[in-house]
Amino acid sequence: MRRPIVAGNWKMNGSLSSVRELLAGVKNGAAGLESIQIAVFPPFVYLAEVERLLTGTAIVWGAQNVSERAPGAFTGEVAAPMLLDFHCTYALVGHSERRTLYGETSAIVAQKFAAARKAGLTPMLCVGETLEERERGATESVVIEQLGAVLDLESIQGLDGAVIAYEPVWAIGTGRTATPEQAQEVHAFIRGQLARQDAKIAQDIRILYGGSVKGSNAVELFAMPDIDGGLIGGASLQVEEFLTIARAAAL
Ligand code: 13P
Repeated sequence: MRRPIVAGNWKMNGSLSSVRELLAGVKNGAAGLESIQIAVFPPFVYLAEVERLLTGTAIVWGAQNVSERAPGAFTGEVAAPMLLDFHCTYALVGHSERRTLYGETSAIVAQKFAAARKAGLTPMLCVGETLEERERGATESVVIEQLGAVLDLESIQGLDGAVIAYEPVWAIGTGRTATPEQAQEVHAFIRGQLARQDAKIAQDIRILYGGSVKGSNAVELFAMPDIDGGLIGGASLQVEEFLTIARAAAL
């Protein structure tokens, strides 16, 4: 059995006071949800406060991005070992906003994945196609390319224990979520691709869905056999909405 994960990607949102308020609510509501893992991804500058507030709880945290490089003269970057100082469990790599707005190629994303793993973090690799790619039938080839860059660099063993998030770009922040069947199809495809190289790693890996997940659509998404939870953007900033999604994963 794969333990579901519900992760909140806060993106570039929040303030010290809103982080405190949000986590107080999530901590309260998370009691009784131990069958799933709840994770939050704050902006870097709030990691210390998140660590302070969540240490000793079952909720884990991670960074939204990580440098592919070892510490050194790289202004504005944050290296993977620094994230361990703040006891991050995860590092997100390859979020579509990083790929499209900040020019991260699949090769760079693979290097970030490797840097996170080398430091002892669990990488959470985001993959997904744009609307144009879906409409021309390129969803599978896009996912193969994004996954392939990591497999080439790290081999299938590098995926052991990692987490994948399938986030169709057209569903992110648009209110237009993939149907459970559309998401399931791609999740099963991803698992199948990994199974060609290692059946056990493919069977055990958690594949989260992301893109306009809300309290109102989480139950039907998480009911699909290859959807192991969600990576939540907008709805993760609202306590009740995020907890409703978490409860849906614990059903
Ligand atoms: P939304 O839930 O706001 O669509 O964002 C999804 C996402 O990008 C999570 O990483």
